[in-house]
Amino acid sequence: MKRILTYGTYDLLHYGHIRLLKRAKALGDYLIVALSTDEFNEIKGKKAYHSYEERKEMLEAIRYVDLVIPEDNWEQKISDVEKYHADVVVMGSDWAGSDKFDYLSDYCEVLYLDRTEGVSTTKIKEDLRLNEPNKDEKILPEPQN
Ligand code: CTP
Repeated sequence: MKRILTYGTYDLLHYGHIRLLKRAKALGDYLIVALSTDEFNEIKGKKAYHSYEERKEMLEAIRYVDLVIPEDNWEQKISDVEKYHADVVVMGSDWAGSDKFDYLSDYCEVLYLDRTEGVSTTKIKEDLRLNEPNKDEKILPEPQN
């Protein structure tokens, strides 16, 4: 049984998240997502639209996800790896080279997967705020009588 562990907020769920989770699960047999709590997001200066419980419910409905645990501080990662017997910690490539995950390579394998271009929760929020969905599909005008 190979166990994979990943971290994130997963607020406005999008296909970039799904692809990351799918590829993470394909690395092993059991995928654990450590999901940032609302309190931890506040510490990070982030505010999710959906609450922790709502985000957890959505993640648990994804076929690639086996377990969702809370991430509520910066220091828990080593103990998460030990407690959940994680063989691999995987993150999107935006985290490569930061000091947030590299040190875990003393405890398990650490892998970074390429991010999906062109989508993020921040971008979706910004596009909706500007009312510019920035998608190829155009909303058709109302038919004229
Ligand atoms: N991710 C990805 N491709 C994207 C967006 C996110 O692979 N286009 C990955 C991240 O690298 C991370 C996981 O999905 O491993 C969860 O990322 P999260 O920060 O919750 O999502 P974002 O959409 O990047 O959110 P934000 O804009 O708030 O940072």
